[in-house]
Amino acid sequence: MVIKQVMVIGAGQMGSGIAQVCAAAGYDVYLHDLKKEFVERGLAGIEKNVQRLVDKGRLSVEEKAGLLERIKPSADLQNAKEVDVVIEAAVENMEVKKQLFAELDQIAPSHAILATNTSSLPITEIAAATSRPEQVIGMHFMNPVPVMKLVEIIRGLATKDEVYAAIETMAKELGKVPVEVNDFPGFISNRVLMPMINEAIFTLYEGVASKEAIDEVMKLGMNHPMGPLQLADFIGLDTCLYIMETLQEGLGEDKYRPCPLLRKYVKAGWLGKKTGRGFYEYS
Ligand code: NAI
Repeated sequence: MVIKQVMVIGAGQMGSGIAQVCAAAGYDVYLHDLKKEFVERGLAGIEKNVQRLVDKGRLSVEEKAGLLERIKPSADLQNAKEVDVVIEAAVENMEVKKQLFAELDQIAPSHAILATNTSSLPITEIAAATSRPEQVIGMHFMNPVPVMKLVEIIRGLATKDEVYAAIETMAKELGKVPVEVNDFPGFISNRVLMPMINEAIFTLYEGVASKEAIDEVMKLGMNHPMGPLQLADFIGLDTCLYIMETLQEGLGEDKYRPCPLLRKYVKAGWLGKKTGRGFYEYS
């Protein structure tokens, strides 16, 4: 299968990064979001990132211009009628994703692969919202996308081998290392990572230590590049909460119960770096 035109849905932190690496690898990309302003914000972030690469001498001015030219803004889902692959990176909410996949199924050409960057939601359930579950697959990038090497590739129950192979090849062309994982809540990455983050939030909630101390222990003691509370801020506390709820619902065990402090922060709109405040403040 020849992949040329890609649509990335959601111009937030993940969607922008995915659009950037796709354009860098030579794909034509639609970056789609609900509103033009959201897409423009995503494009501004990409431009800033790419300029940093130019400043470091890792990209020429011509390469930067070519990369940016390959990304077209979209606030109309009808643009999906021209695409070979959709990578959905909208908010981590099953209803939103099902609705999007049902619409994409109507619009995208019959050969198109519909991939989702979901952190934890069942691929099989998202696929069931379409009439082409064999062409639906999980393509889970890590944050920040241009830097992190891993892509978890998750087959739904019906995903065809050719679709898996096409997405695996695409991930390699993006300079990533694909790892195959089966469709269970949270896959591997978030089933292991998110309970650790949730436990770190519990230690803060119970007054075991200050946020700085908790992060310092995990950085210096476990050699983690970033402490769990800072990492939660970078992921987005809303996304962390959605993932914990998916683990709790999907695996049915109390050990996945989200910490009440996490819920409180999300209710306050303290979603982490993207809103300027989470466990820490960001200017
Ligand atoms: P974000 O909050 O930065 O961006 C989400 C974007 O989706 C927003 O711009 C929003 O306007 C847009 N959106 C919402 N509903 C939409 C719709 N119906 N149609 C089009 N656009 C819509 O979120 P982020 O962090 O980029 O996460 C996106 C997805 O990627 C989620 O599924 C998340 O679980 C997953 N993910 C997140 C990671 C992280 O570290 N933040 C890592 C890997 C996956």
